[in-house]
Amino acid sequence: MATLFDRLADSYDAVGVDFITPIARGLVDELDPRPGEAALDVGCGKGAALVPLARAVGPSGTAVGIDVSPGMVDRARAAIEEAGTSATVEVGDAMHPEVDGPFDLIASSLVLFFLSDPLAALMAWRPLLREGGRVGVSTFGPLTERWRTTVDAELHRHAPAHVKDARTDGQAGPFSSDAGMEELLRSAGYGDVRTVTTTVCPRFDDPEHWQRFSMSVGQRRFWEAIPPDRYDEVRATLFEAVDACRDDEGRIGFDQAVRYTIASA
Ligand SMILES: C[S@@+](CC[C@H](N)C(=O)[O-])C[C@H]1O[C@@H](n2cnc3c(N)ncnc32)[C@H](O)[C@@H]1O
Repeated sequence: MATLFDRLADSYDAVGVDFITPIARGLVDELDPRPGEAALDVGCGKGAALVPLARAVGPSGTAVGIDVSPGMVDRARAAIEEAGTSATVEVGDAMHPEVDGPFDLIASSLVLFFLSDPLAALMAWRPLLREGGRVGVSTFGPLTERWRTTVDAELHRHAPAHVKDARTDGQAGPFSSDAGMEELLRSAGYGDVRTVTTTVCPRFDDPEHWQRFSMSVGQRRFWEAIPPDRYDEVRATLFEAVDACRDDEGRIGFDQAVRYTIASA
């Protein structure tokens, strides 16, 4: 996981597509961080949630981000500095976070489906929260059916064995419904569990633009798993499928439901 995200860190959330940042900001809004609070971002990536968290808790609060990818951690530090705010960002494992709490809130955007044991991770985060502290995770709900059954289905055929990501594990089991995610949080010992949903609508200039986007996220592994002698043929099939998925204004893209599962310790 660390090497995958190190490889894609440069292009991650940097290909001109509104996707990662609005999802993270929506999660931060739901967690409603206040000045003076202590916030932890698990799997902080390049800081899409950490930057608004750090801004919201302000100089009287603390913001901490951990990520398994050193490349992501470097870029999150740079983003915090560029934003003129302050946070501690360290390499760390979401399964065993070694951070000093307690925290008033924990955010984790688009991370849980990458973990070896999401329930164990959520259980490990709970003692880091103050009594009554909030936890919020973002995961994916349904997406445009045509995109799912053509583009994603074709790419998915090249998923390496045991791959963990939004388009494999992230669509099954607890991740397949609001109720499944709510039950996961309850099983980990949290209360006041609720779900908020929103939709993000990434749009692409052309199939090449979509490929750059796809290579900048976890799907990159599917591209890397295509046998070299079949690459041109698979890419052509995918581009044809992508080109056929257009909205009412003729723009290429899909609509993706996003699920925020929020709870208290
Ligand atoms: C899709 S990105 C989301 C990043 C960030 N939360 C955001 O919203 O942009 C998933 C992140 O989870 C991190 N990650 C995956 N497994 C992890 C683990 N076991 N511990 C910590 N971070 C992990 C990856 O390195 C990557 O930065």
